[in-house]
Amino acid sequence: MHTDAIAWSPAGGVRLLDQTLLPAAVRYLEIDGIDRMVEAIRMLRVRGAPLIGIAAAMGLAAAAEQRAAAAGSSGQGRAAEAEQAGLTAGWLRAAAAQLAAARPTAVNLSWAVERMRRVGEAALQSGERPAAVAARLRAEAQAIWDEDAAMCAAIGRAGVELVPAGATILTHCNTGQLATGGIGTAFGVILAAHREGKGIDVVADETRPLRQGGRLTAWELARAGIPARVIVDGAAGALMARGEVDLVITGADRIAANGDAANKIGTYALAVLARAHDIPFYVAAPWSTFDLTLASGDAIPIEQRAAEEILDSAAGVRGYNPAFDVTPAELITGIVTDRGVLRPPYAAAIAAAAA
Ligand code: MRU
Repeated sequence: MHTDAIAWSPAGGVRLLDQTLLPAAVRYLEIDGIDRMVEAIRMLRVRGAPLIGIAAAMGLAAAAEQRAAAAGSSGQGRAAEAEQAGLTAGWLRAAAAQLAAARPTAVNLSWAVERMRRVGEAALQSGERPAAVAARLRAEAQAIWDEDAAMCAAIGRAGVELVPAGATILTHCNTGQLATGGIGTAFGVILAAHREGKGIDVVADETRPLRQGGRLTAWELARAGIPARVIVDGAAGALMARGEVDLVITGADRIAANGDAANKIGTYALAVLARAHDIPFYVAAPWSTFDLTLASGDAIPIEQRAAEEILDSAAGVRGYNPAFDVTPAELITGIVTDRGVLRPPYAAAIAAAAA
């Protein structure tokens, strides 16, 4: 099932639902060209680790198609046509690098863009015409999207067994259809539990400062008919202390080889609170979120965002706005993936799942 957060535009580019306007307005943007896609990703018009990877891949394919269409077929030979179209390995590498640099923490972005670059360069090296290269790029972007939808469905199936009947589930940020190519990651588990008739209740953290929980998860929960309450981030500990939370489940933007998981700022605090109150803390993520090149979460780059996002007034005070934090593996009860639920010790579990 594909979401309406993203679509191929009939006009030739990519159509994005502008998530900065939700839930007040449902407005679509026509994204044409690499610069505009980079801006949309940076400004969180499109967001969520898997979805920014999909969006970047589609943006790259659409830009290649436009180059190929503008050049047409000159009859001068394939290499000359590619040069004329500007659909060269140099362009591909520069566009891929620009997209990958749009946001640093979610590895899904660089993973998807790198996959696209490899496919495009292979097609160019084998002497394919610009239109054929562009067609391969579109097929690859579609495959990245379709695979993510399938991974989300698998995460939902794997995670549902972790949810006791009647559970109150606390979640953070937004991990649903607005963040992925399918039903979501943590949200996918919540949706699967709801659809199985487990009678769950959801507590959605507002998720300061951009309120992905209060605006986006609340919108998705309401649309799915799932009983839910929004809380301010600072209320989570009090609810746990009163026994009002049965489990916590969040998404992730990058998971290191030892199981340390980066996710939206505030996730680490939830994990510490969950441990203090003896509540299970789960992370849900597709395989594309694992970065096995990093031994631990210490090496995960943390996006620093503008102070203006959190300051009411710039006068006399500086802002400090890290957008993500890292939850150490020892605080994570289980990692729900499309390859099953991984349990500690994570280095071994992740290596086995990768094999
Ligand atoms: O800054 P955002 O809104 O892109 O952050 C998103 C998150 O932190 C999500 O929890 C994460 O990407 C997992 S999405 C399935």
